[in-house]
Amino acid sequence: MEEIEIPEVTRDYVESPQKNQLPLPIVAGGVVLLAVLGFISLRLFSPSKEVPAVENIPAQTNPPVAKTEPEATTTAPEPEAAPTQTPAVQPRVDLLGHLPYDVAPESELVPVTADGSLKMRPAAAEKFKQMQAAAKADGINLAAISGFRDTKTQDHLFFGIKEQRLQDAAKRAEVSAPPGYSEHHTGYAIDIGDGNAPATNLETSFGDTAAFRWLEQNALKYSFELSFPPDNKQGVSYEPWHWRFVGDRDSLETFYKVRH
Ligand code: DAL
Ligand code: ZN
Repeated sequence: MEEIEIPEVTRDYVESPQKNQLPLPIVAGGVVLLAVLGFISLRLFSPSKEVPAVENIPAQTNPPVAKTEPEATTTAPEPEAAPTQTPAVQPRVDLLGHLPYDVAPESELVPVTADGSLKMRPAAAEKFKQMQAAAKADGINLAAISGFRDTKTQDHLFFGIKEQRLQDAAKRAEVSAPPGYSEHHTGYAIDIGDGNAPATNLETSFGDTAAFRWLEQNALKYSFELSFPPDNKQGVSYEPWHWRFVGDRDSLETFYKVRH
């Protein structure tokens, strides 16, 4: 009998399925089922690293730390910023009881005497002349002895006279300010004598004159005050002849802005 050659490929196809082999749809369904069960078990039993749902975030009780805030343990402290401007009022340091004063510009001074030899700031000069006229009406002769003084003049009055009189600095400072420390630099101070008793000029005896008594009663009407009364805080000797004008803002600040 003739043997029919069957190609191997065809032979495989025509073979009947094995009895133990499951149908393909069943196998596929099982794989899907296992995958789903595995996924569910992972969700249920594995520790959660997920971000909770928005509505489950507990309310924050502490304010968040700004990312730019330096950490004390790791960041060196910032050096304190230097002050950008100096205070408006600086303490003034005295020298032998005298306070430092700026020297008034000559261009801001006006004559207080007829010959123009003595000068003051305009407001002070005007008030002195008014006061002088009022005193004259009362029979009092107020004589202007010294007004504005520059540092060269004050230098002579302090150092020059100190050497002539063989005084030490402290002794000289009892009656004269060192250069840079005289109220006469400001253009607001004036030494006043009694024209009817010139022997008392720049002497404590001026305090006994009619002119001084008139000043005691009237000078404040013209905003002049005695700079160095007896036992003044600066320790300067009593000077009944030395008066200063404090009748406007600049003069007031000049003498009162800093006292210590
Ligand atoms: N006699 C006063 C203190 C002065 O020299 O300014
Ligand atoms: Zn004086």
